[in-house]
Amino acid sequence: MTTLVELKPARPVTPHGILVEQLQTVLELAASHKVPASVMTALQQAHQLAAGLEPYINECTTSESEALTALAKRTSAEDWSQRFSDGETVRQLEQEMLSGHVEGQTLKMFVHMTKAKRILEVGMFTGYSALAMAEALPNDGYMVACEVDDYVASFAQTCFHNSPHGHKIKIEVAPALETLQKLAEKGDSFDLVFIDADKKEYVQYFQTILDSSLLAPGGIICVDNTLMQGQPYLSSEESTPNGKAITEFNRVVAADNRVEQVLLPLRDGLTIIRRTGS
Ligand SMILES: C[S@@+](CC[C@H](N)C(=O)[O-])C[C@H]1O[C@@H](n2cnc3c(N)ncnc32)[C@H](O)[C@@H]1O
Repeated sequence: MTTLVELKPARPVTPHGILVEQLQTVLELAASHKVPASVMTALQQAHQLAAGLEPYINECTTSESEALTALAKRTSAEDWSQRFSDGETVRQLEQEMLSGHVEGQTLKMFVHMTKAKRILEVGMFTGYSALAMAEALPNDGYMVACEVDDYVASFAQTCFHNSPHGHKIKIEVAPALETLQKLAEKGDSFDLVFIDADKKEYVQYFQTILDSSLLAPGGIICVDNTLMQGQPYLSSEESTPNGKAITEFNRVVAADNRVEQVLLPLRDGLTIIRRTGS
């Protein structure tokens, strides 16, 4: 008999997801305050337009592999809050950290488009984005995935064993800055780097990568959460430490004349950076 795993709904963690939730609240408030029919209709249309976007993008995007579905289900079924309150870890992990279907497919496309053979991931969690990118690597391609937390590292490793592409991923369990330093000292280079670890260290990851051999000529850096739930463009009084760190990171990248970049409004913001002249 199959046991059905009840998946916990993820709370909204993107500007768009938060907007949909806010519109839902406004709609409920408007209904209880008997606003004019024309206002109600306009609100309903705005809500439909916003709420339908992500499901439609999901529907039009190639389905994820069975191994990625299984990994996402395992991640969702885990009680991360329980683990955190047990004091087994000093950093808060949560299922919402997982990038998911559309972002995974986007990263996978970037690997195909760039013909990357060497990938560096900074911040792996349970391995969704790592495995999505590994699926697009050729058989002789490889990825180094940096993760500081032992528990999620072995969680991811178990999922990788269930995929024919998992063997391409080598996990480095240590603070990412130490791993970056070690790889740079060895003179390693990567065609694609995905940054998704500690937001307060983003500027250091970026500078370490650009100041060393880590970014191969023609290579690209993809950086996650660069919209940080809208905080960089909302009132700074309500900014969290992560929001402030991302605001600073975006400023540093925009001011660095060694690179050019674009911030894509995908999920919580994905910035693509390349070194100019390479
Ligand atoms: C947002 S999650 C990564 C999500 C993953 N890339 C995905 O798409 O599913 C961030 C991860 O970075 C890890 N992390 C945080 N600080 C780190 C550090 N200083 N060095 C290495 N990993 C770190 C966390 O333990 C967490 O697993």
